[in-house]
Amino acid sequence: MKVVLLDLETHFSTPQVEEAMDLVRETTEYDLTQPQAGYFHCLSKNPDYHVEMALTEEGFVTAKCHCAVFKRSKICPHAIASLMILRDHKIRNRRVRSKSKHEKLLLDEVLRKLNITELRKFISDYGHSHSAFRAEVLAYYLHRIRKPDYHHLLTDMTPMDKFGVIKLNRNNLKSVRNIVSILLRQAQDLLKDNALPQTIQILEAVIHHLYRLMIKVPQFQDQLATELKHALKLFDAFCQLPMAPRLQKTALTLAMEVSARDGFILLKGTHTLLRSAEPFILEKKARIAAFQLVESKISLENPQRILWACLWLRWTRVWGIESKHKKIKTILKSSTPDILTELQSQRAYDDILFVLSNTRVEQFPQPIAHHMLQIGLKAARLLGDEKSGQTFAYALSTIHHDKDAWETLFSLDADRAIKSLTIVQEYNKPNEHKEVEDFLLHGFQLSGQKKMLLDRLAALDDIHQLMRYDSSLIASHTVALAELYARQMNALRDTYGGESVRRQLTTIVYHLKDVDLHTLVMEEIKKMEKTDTQTNTASSTIKGFIFDLDGVIVDTAEHHFLSWKKILKQLGADITEEDDRHTRGASRIESLEYLLAKYQINLSQKEKEHWAAKKNDLYLLSIEEITPRDLLPGVLAFLLDAKKAGLSIALGSASKNAKTVLEKLAIENRFDAILDGTSTKKSKPDPEIFVKCCKAMNLEPGEVVVFEDAVKGVQAALAAGCKVVGIGDAAILHEADFTMTGLDQSTPTQILEKLK
Ligand code: BG6
Ligand code: MG
Repeated sequence: MKVVLLDLETHFSTPQVEEAMDLVRETTEYDLTQPQAGYFHCLSKNPDYHVEMALTEEGFVTAKCHCAVFKRSKICPHAIASLMILRDHKIRNRRVRSKSKHEKLLLDEVLRKLNITELRKFISDYGHSHSAFRAEVLAYYLHRIRKPDYHHLLTDMTPMDKFGVIKLNRNNLKSVRNIVSILLRQAQDLLKDNALPQTIQILEAVIHHLYRLMIKVPQFQDQLATELKHALKLFDAFCQLPMAPRLQKTALTLAMEVSARDGFILLKGTHTLLRSAEPFILEKKARIAAFQLVESKISLENPQRILWACLWLRWTRVWGIESKHKKIKTILKSSTPDILTELQSQRAYDDILFVLSNTRVEQFPQPIAHHMLQIGLKAARLLGDEKSGQTFAYALSTIHHDKDAWETLFSLDADRAIKSLTIVQEYNKPNEHKEVEDFLLHGFQLSGQKKMLLDRLAALDDIHQLMRYDSSLIASHTVALAELYARQMNALRDTYGGESVRRQLTTIVYHLKDVDLHTLVMEEIKKMEKTDTQTNTASSTIKGFIFDLDGVIVDTAEHHFLSWKKILKQLGADITEEDDRHTRGASRIESLEYLLAKYQINLSQKEKEHWAAKKNDLYLLSIEEITPRDLLPGVLAFLLDAKKAGLSIALGSASKNAKTVLEKLAIENRFDAILDGTSTKKSKPDPEIFVKCCKAMNLEPGEVVVFEDAVKGVQAALAAGCKVVGIGDAAILHEADFTMTGLDQSTPTQILEKLK
């Protein structure tokens, strides 16, 4: 007796099968053993029988029973029942553990030999209550049959009542989902093996079936969505693969059907599919239908509208279809930047150029327009479209001052690149926008326009740019470059004072040494100083400067005032800002006298001395921490430049603490003469201090300018016959020749010019 194990029923007559089935039910105690590979023994005690079976690799099984009936006719109910037990055992085994490769092949072989009718019969008879098993068998083996009808099978396996209405509940939903998962797993394997026609057969049936179920039993939508997502993911991957035209058509139809459903996504793979299918698959009617479908998806409410719009634009371009809807155009217009970004991520460079050729980029805000053009330039370069590339690069250079784009333009059309530089130069004054300067200098350097580079650098107040771009000028414009450095280094010193300038100058000197320009620049600086001195002394009658200390060189005026405030508080009075005007410039004791008189406080001489000393203690305490950093802005540079201009300089302060303060500021050696509160008897506005300063400098008062922050000081200087520059509020210091807010506001040369 030689039969196929899985198809026993067709080998025996119905009464034989029925008898065997009864026997199986009766056989409650039996042992099924496998003494060696492919051999089985079925030993039953009740009823008593013993059958030996041998299973060949081809799937055939032979059985030999030890009963008399078998000996006689080579067939007996024991043998058939044992085969059924064996089959049962194998199926059970297969369900609990995954099939070994060998078993799989075996089963494969067996099923291959069955025809569809036999298979169907087997499945529906045997696996009636085992839907998962049925699906598994179907999934694994059905695709081997030429035209498997998955639609039919899925419907077949979906619970329905006798009127054909789908009856899903929580229990049978599980098995339906199971069936679908098994089919999808199979589709996934087939896809891996590149068996595309078989894959799409399963996917198409499953996707449609799932949609159908979701509509019919909406309460299970969430659960079914898991399988649907999986199916769409597979389909998405499917669409990305190259395939034969017939298959493309099927895939495209399915893609469109999926897309046409509300709320469902546009699969990324659709783009790939379309790209390969577009030129030869779709007929005009189909194209228009597809186009209209996409159009219906472009609405402000649809979060995926950008993706749809990209598709719409693509078809407009590829198929030359025109839309009549104005609303779409408005939506598209406002979304152009997003569309371009999406197209870039899809690498749809043709579409990018198409969109840009229909867009007025300049209507978008600058940074957005800049980005749009950058996308365009990249696309043009990748497509090798020189003409578009030039157009974008020119706009990016001229309007957006984009250095990279300019380089591209230069490589494509040097003349146009230079023209762009000229335009930017014409429309932008030097020093207004840093990015314009970077753009121009970079362009001039790269295009070898040395004269332009030098001129622009000369027009800038930016020595750092000079350091960055000097390399291309050193050989050809050495002297001009040295002059420029000398001028800018002087200007740097004039404009700012203090530590930061010193540090900057040191960096510049190191750089100059590096590029071998140091000696030449230093010579230039000396030359300039010489001419400065000559012009000053030749043209000006002014030969000396006198500086007040508190409020001109250092901000100690505030400390004087606050110390007085504290003292007067102790004496029972609240002094005001107005009082500051009267004590500023006045000697210590005169300041006290003024305040006592104003607040009607009577003190003896001894008491006055006591409180004046106390104020000084407070003042000294407050200035204890003063360092050179506390010099008012521009002071050091001003003193140095005054010296360089050949002027004598003196200090004329009413303060008895002047020398201490000067030491703390480390500038005591900068003065030709220092006169302070210890050198005079009379206090400002008496001219005594300034007259003495002039004498010490050997100058006539008419040859001297005094810098003063106090009204009393201004009056003293005028009384001495000097010129006065008021440092502070012009309204308060209106008697001065002119005023400025600090020494950082001007240079000695400019002061001399002004006083001429
Ligand atoms: C002047 C200040 O410079 O010196 C005054 O403007 C101050 O406010 C005066 O009173 C005297 O200073 P000192 O240090 O001697 O008390
Ligand atoms: Mg002062």
